[in-house]
Amino acid sequence: MASKPTPINADVVSRRIREMGLTDLGSASIREIKKIVDLVEGDTGETFIRMEMGIPGLPALQVGVDAQIQALKDGVAAIYPDIQGIPVLKKEIARFVKLFMDVEVSPEHCVPTVGSMMGGMAAFMTINRMWAERKGTLYLDPGFPVQKQQCKLLGHDYESFDVYEYRGEKLRAKLESYLKTGTISSILYSSPNNPSWICFTEEELRTIGELATQYNVVVIEDLAYFAMDFRQDYSKPGQAPYQPTVAKYTDNYILLISSSKAFSYAGERIGMMVVSDKVWEMRSPDLKRFFSSDQVGHSLIFGAIYGISSGTSHSAQYALAAILKAVNNGEIDFVAIAKEYGEKAKVMKRLFTENGFNIVYDQDLGEPIADGFYFTFAYPGLDGGQLLLELVHYGISAITLGITGSEHTEGLRACTSLIKREQFPLLEERLKRFREDHPIA
Ligand SMILES: Cc1ncc(COP(=O)(O)O)c(C=O)c1O
Repeated sequence: MASKPTPINADVVSRRIREMGLTDLGSASIREIKKIVDLVEGDTGETFIRMEMGIPGLPALQVGVDAQIQALKDGVAAIYPDIQGIPVLKKEIARFVKLFMDVEVSPEHCVPTVGSMMGGMAAFMTINRMWAERKGTLYLDPGFPVQKQQCKLLGHDYESFDVYEYRGEKLRAKLESYLKTGTISSILYSSPNNPSWICFTEEELRTIGELATQYNVVVIEDLAYFAMDFRQDYSKPGQAPYQPTVAKYTDNYILLISSSKAFSYAGERIGMMVVSDKVWEMRSPDLKRFFSSDQVGHSLIFGAIYGISSGTSHSAQYALAAILKAVNNGEIDFVAIAKEYGEKAKVMKRLFTENGFNIVYDQDLGEPIADGFYFTFAYPGLDGGQLLLELVHYGISAITLGITGSEHTEGLRACTSLIKREQFPLLEERLKRFREDHPIA
């Protein structure tokens, strides 16, 4: 602890951490940190610079809200939706995948889920149970911690490695070292990556795709930040460049496309799961241990999704269908709207680096990392847990990279979404004060 009084009362901070039952803030989950900061804000009346949780900072797309209200007025609240999704939505998802990724999928294999979180859960539940002798998922870290939690909840084992040191040509040998063991059922990664914001190149996706085919594993590609690598313009329906995807290089894929960040629709918990024709049709006798069918598509719908939630909110499906229709028809440029995150990241990174911090994941295959929803930072002489604890005393919250599977345990992840531009002077003032109190040797 700094010896001088800190902007946020140190006794309040330590009491709230203790009450949460945590001995080390560095291992706290995103939701635990959110809870502690909510309580400390309430106790002290101070507003934090909140960078811990990826809540969209933009309003939900109005076309979705309007369609959802109309659907409720039309009475859908009383009616169970079909588990596999309403036909109009399935059709628009398939169109979206064609227009923004240049990938052909059958509308039947496009399924709404209760956020991408549920898509991941249903995918693990099904794919990781196809082969009794295999262990589970290989995570290309750093990653979104709760996705490992999902595997743990299901009793699956997993492997992971920090991909930062294995970019480009180094990726093949590293991936193969895991796949060769014959114990991997699925590979999961996000690109753009939460938390590091690295984006896999076409070459890397080709490597992942080729190896997935060769070793017959299923890639679960998490596109939570769809089209948000703002270095490229992925905003034009039906026009290159398209959102890069492993689906170009293998038929062994499931895509998770979240509506939360791209369309600011996090609150209604609706996402899209897109399964390739090949994976949908795959059969495995081992599935029969858990499902009534040996076929993946059937097990996903009538086993996993039925069992988890019996489908996705009826009115939210109408909302997403309306959003996708407008986006697919070129009536709304959702990428232009989301660019605000990148603009804010640029300013925030400058404020941090001007005050003694450094960006941890700062390169994307030799190029400076893009400005987007997240960035990562560290401060000399402190590890991630210490840095987070110290920053909380200065009214700034984030999460440690340690909990994301990163090897860079000295770093923290900052989310750019919730901070308002009007708060930049306050952020700068707090960072300056932090630097004064923590002189760099
Ligand atoms: C990488 C990643 N995957 C999935 C999700 C969850 O998305 P959804 O809100 O659609 O459940 C998030 C949300 O932050 C994420 O960062």
